[in-house]
Amino acid sequence: MASIKKVGVVGCGTMGSGIAIVSSRAGYETFIVDSNEKNLSALMTQSADFFKKSIARGKMSADQLEPTLSRLHTSANLQSLQDCDIVIEAIFEDLQVKHQLFAKLNQICPSHTIFASNTSTISITEIAGGSGRDELFVGMHFCLPAQLMKLVEMSPGLNTSEDAFQKAWDFCISLGQTPVKTQDTPGFILNYFLIPFNNNAIRMVEAGIATPEDIDKAIKASMGYAMGPMQLLDLVGMDTQKLLCHAMHDLTHEPDAACPPLVRRMIAAGHLGKKSGKGFFTYQNSKLFGA
Ligand SMILES: NC(=O)c1ccc[n+]([C@@H]2O[C@H](COP(=O)([O-])OP(=O)(O)OC[C@H]3O[C@@H](n4cnc5c(N)ncnc54)[C@H](O)[C@@H]3O)[C@@H](O)[C@H]2O)c1
Repeated sequence: MASIKKVGVVGCGTMGSGIAIVSSRAGYETFIVDSNEKNLSALMTQSADFFKKSIARGKMSADQLEPTLSRLHTSANLQSLQDCDIVIEAIFEDLQVKHQLFAKLNQICPSHTIFASNTSTISITEIAGGSGRDELFVGMHFCLPAQLMKLVEMSPGLNTSEDAFQKAWDFCISLGQTPVKTQDTPGFILNYFLIPFNNNAIRMVEAGIATPEDIDKAIKASMGYAMGPMQLLDLVGMDTQKLLCHAMHDLTHEPDAACPPLVRRMIAAGHLGKKSGKGFFTYQNSKLFGA
């Protein structure tokens, strides 16, 4: 199997934009595709801002700025992924939408290209089933915000070859990330407890038990977390939280995984979180990716 030189990312929203930054920062030519061109131009502006902050904090040398930015190539056309050795998908959390995408990618990409999904809750084996190459399919679940968090939960599907999984694992390490192997289970490790945990925090707000500020204060002060659940939910986005809940509840039927009604009302009101400028908190600067 050829070594990984060119990386594709599909979906330039909250997660895909961070993954693209991680990839270009690690030295890979990175091709990002999104059907929404506004998100692609936002990525270029916001990644320049992010790298400048990294330079100011001494985490990157100034002479790396231009080469790192020039490794990011954006397009609305999937055809631009035709030479990629791995394609990481970070589009909407919907099995049918992901199947449609991978069926197209299977026609476009060379036969050695590894396909990876950043899904949080959908079975890797099920997504792989619609890809036409389930032996080259892996789960690569980055954490939010991907450009700052090291963890990547890596899951083989039932038909994933050991060779492909190892290749994706080595690639993950070459990105400077920390891979952890999990079975192909809804929520993997992190979201298995995080989705019910966050939903219960939302239900506390719904029931008027405490304000979002006080819930975050209590969790941070008692559990040592850097971020409380309400702030995290604003980064995740209510639209994504709803899709995550649906996917996990569908698979597990756990009551705690069911989407709280407040999430639907917030979506209807446009209170998506940081990306729309308002969620549980308000934001002056509504960027695609947080922190
Ligand atoms: N938000 C999180 O906290 C988080 C964390 C880890 C993993 N994930 C997973 O990552 C994936 C993406 O989530 P997100 O929060 O970044 O979503 P998002 O809504 O912020 O971004 C999705 C992007 O995909 C694009 N898109 C949708 N369908 C497309 C298609 N067919 N072709 C090209 N572009 C398309 C949209 O235009 C959008 O820019 C989901 O599978 C989600 O479960 C999310």
